[in-house]
Amino acid sequence: MTLASEPDLRTLLTQERHRIHLVGVAGSGMSGIAALLLELGHEVSGSDKVGSIETERLVRLGLRFHLEHRAEDANDADLVIFSSAIRKENPILVSAQAAGKPLLRRAEALAAIMSGKRGIIIAGMHGKTTTSAMAAHVLREGGTHPSHYVGAEIPLLGSNAHWDLRGEYFVAEGDESDGTLRLFQPEHALILNIEEEHLDFYPDLAAIEAVFSQMMDQTTGSIFYCADDLHATRICGPRARSISFGFAPNADYRGTDIDLKDFASIFCVFRRGEKLGEAVLNVPGRHNVSNSLGVIAVATELGVPFEKIVTSLRRFEHARRRFEIKYESERFLLVDDYAHHPTEISATLTTAKSAGRNRVLTMFQPHRYSRTKALRREFGRAFDSADRVVVTDIYPASEAPLPGITGQTIADEITAHGHRGVSYQPRLDRLHCDLGNMIASGDLILSLGAGNIHEQLSILAADLVIAERLKAIVGEEGDVRLYEPLAKHTTLRVGGPAQFWVEPRSEAALADLIRYCRRENLPLFVIGRGSNLLVRDGGIRGVVVHPCGGEFDAVDVSGNEITAGVGAKLKQVAYAGKAASLGGLEWMEGIPGSVGGSLRMNAGAMGAQTFENVVRVRYLDGEGNAHTKTPAEMEINYRHVPSLDSNYAVSAVFRGTRSAPEEIARRLDESQEKRRTTQPSAKSAGCIFKNPKSGPAGKLVDELGLKNSRVGQARVSEVHGNFIINEGGATAAEVIELIEKIKESARTQRGVELETEVQIVGEEA
Ligand code: EPU
Repeated sequence: MTLASEPDLRTLLTQERHRIHLVGVAGSGMSGIAALLLELGHEVSGSDKVGSIETERLVRLGLRFHLEHRAEDANDADLVIFSSAIRKENPILVSAQAAGKPLLRRAEALAAIMSGKRGIIIAGMHGKTTTSAMAAHVLREGGTHPSHYVGAEIPLLGSNAHWDLRGEYFVAEGDESDGTLRLFQPEHALILNIEEEHLDFYPDLAAIEAVFSQMMDQTTGSIFYCADDLHATRICGPRARSISFGFAPNADYRGTDIDLKDFASIFCVFRRGEKLGEAVLNVPGRHNVSNSLGVIAVATELGVPFEKIVTSLRRFEHARRRFEIKYESERFLLVDDYAHHPTEISATLTTAKSAGRNRVLTMFQPHRYSRTKALRREFGRAFDSADRVVVTDIYPASEAPLPGITGQTIADEITAHGHRGVSYQPRLDRLHCDLGNMIASGDLILSLGAGNIHEQLSILAADLVIAERLKAIVGEEGDVRLYEPLAKHTTLRVGGPAQFWVEPRSEAALADLIRYCRRENLPLFVIGRGSNLLVRDGGIRGVVVHPCGGEFDAVDVSGNEITAGVGAKLKQVAYAGKAASLGGLEWMEGIPGSVGGSLRMNAGAMGAQTFENVVRVRYLDGEGNAHTKTPAEMEINYRHVPSLDSNYAVSAVFRGTRSAPEEIARRLDESQEKRRTTQPSAKSAGCIFKNPKSGPAGKLVDELGLKNSRVGQARVSEVHGNFIINEGGATAAEVIELIEKIKESARTQRGVELETEVQIVGEEA
């Protein structure tokens, strides 16, 4: 069957009732068509490989939704409508074609539905969604009951599309990307701007202009165009019945005295030199003032009184993903925007800059290989207003990759243009970490792109909510950081990020943290100096607490006792002892860890171990309550103190014995000398394995001939077999693989089951 002629199609879609199937119904454009068809009384089914918020809403309105494309689900359809993202081989298309059913592209269906009303089409490269939503809203408030079709979810309008039986007008966003703009025969057209875009489809600007011109030839009423846009003015200006708007002195509807506030603008409106009055727009940016002048022009020409227009503009809210505020506090502002063309990016960044925060940090996901390639130079110049830019890889939409074109292409162009704050992060799922890691109080963080980058900003926003609560708990003196790389906090220098890095300065703050994490079900992990710790490359989820500074670092001597906070280094205890002529603690000189870490694992050296010197330990339990215990009241093993597994030590009292200063100095020298001569000085986590009953692990590794064996940048020390050293840039995965090799060798060759002394924590990358 051939396609029905246009009047037939209009009757079929707007006056009759049919069974209609939509292929690719979850997309923002297709779901709008489905909504219109349901409201027009059709029996509508649809298929897609994914569901969306829109499909959920449509199912409630009567859509039969299928989560795959199967020919039999569309067998009873009289008509099939398909998205341009659907391939020719799609089974529903193939079978509908074979059955001779009419097949319609999305834009054909929209044009036919729209022809059932007095159409107002909003077209242009940038700002269509916002402007068509604004036009539908203003006409609705003006009492004209317009129907609408907009390319995104519009909370203010209730849905992305609506057929209103009562009204005559139909406001639709016209898509220029695939030439289907020429299908429309509206009464009025509003042209926002025309420039080079979608060069995957059009050979050049002239081809783009030809499509706009044809659509305008088919427009029976007025052509509204932006007088500030060069190309729009050139092709629309000379037409009869054209009406201009913008800031240009000769614009028919002109905005002047524009006062751009953080998130609103106030401006004066003139019609052909006559002042209509003042308007307030509650969405930010000069470009939106221009868009609103277009809407004011249309609404005024359609007879909506200016006062009505002003009241409704004041109430207008943004479409989703159009400068959408995801999080706002005194310290941070997180904004998401759909901008993906260089012109849109500069406009959004200018708006962001004028929001009055300190810095603008941007994450950008390029959209389509073809656009990246065609506009690479323009992208290079688009980020001037951003203080930092992290570019991720390209969101392909339906495109196949182009050789040599990646997100790096754009990062390089921005750098070549002279920007100093650009980096490339190929992994989308790491973007929130990169940005979260660089934020400081006062920053505005912006996600830009038409793909799925907004999900990264949402993760950051959710984590920021928690980070701000944690900050309130630790107070001014404490510190909270997001996604702190743990490689910075381990002596082995490996490990991924801590979701929340928290440094409390007091026992009271630590107790509050424990209670908060328990209430919110957040895992809590305490880290000292990270000397016996191996953090996996995926980092640690939850709160990583590093008690340091303040009372945690205090070391006080009183009589024969030394009280030390868990943040102090164990060797400080040895030196405090020396200063007070207290001996027996010299072995501590050889331990690089903190008091907290040494307590937890009963660290030892020179044949001695921590708990031999401990008199009392003060700790907080899982509810944040403080206790003081003697070693006799605790369970203490070789390199493991089970009593501290689920409690959090805050300080300990050590006892020394009165000794001659020379004797203490001699023993400290001895310990130092032993360490210097038998242990490597390179980056390591101390001894990797506990000494098995059969003898020292280092000796065993040595005898197995595994010294100097390596995986990547991790190598067994040639000085001491129980040390693995990071030669620079080793990953946790490499270290763990090397550990497994050693264990395997000890098991098979000696029947010895080596057990790690280092604590291995965190998630795989
Ligand atoms: N040995 C070898 N080859 C080697 C390493 C050691 O033959 O590659 C021999 C040594 O010659 C010595 C014996 O093995 O006869 C024991 O070695 P070492 O004296 O170095 O002691 P260790 O048991 O390997 C322990 C602690 C260290 C601490 C030292 C010094 C354990 C697992 N390790 O090492 O602690 O610094 O004593 O007192 O108990 C740590 O816990 O992280 C740590 C480094």
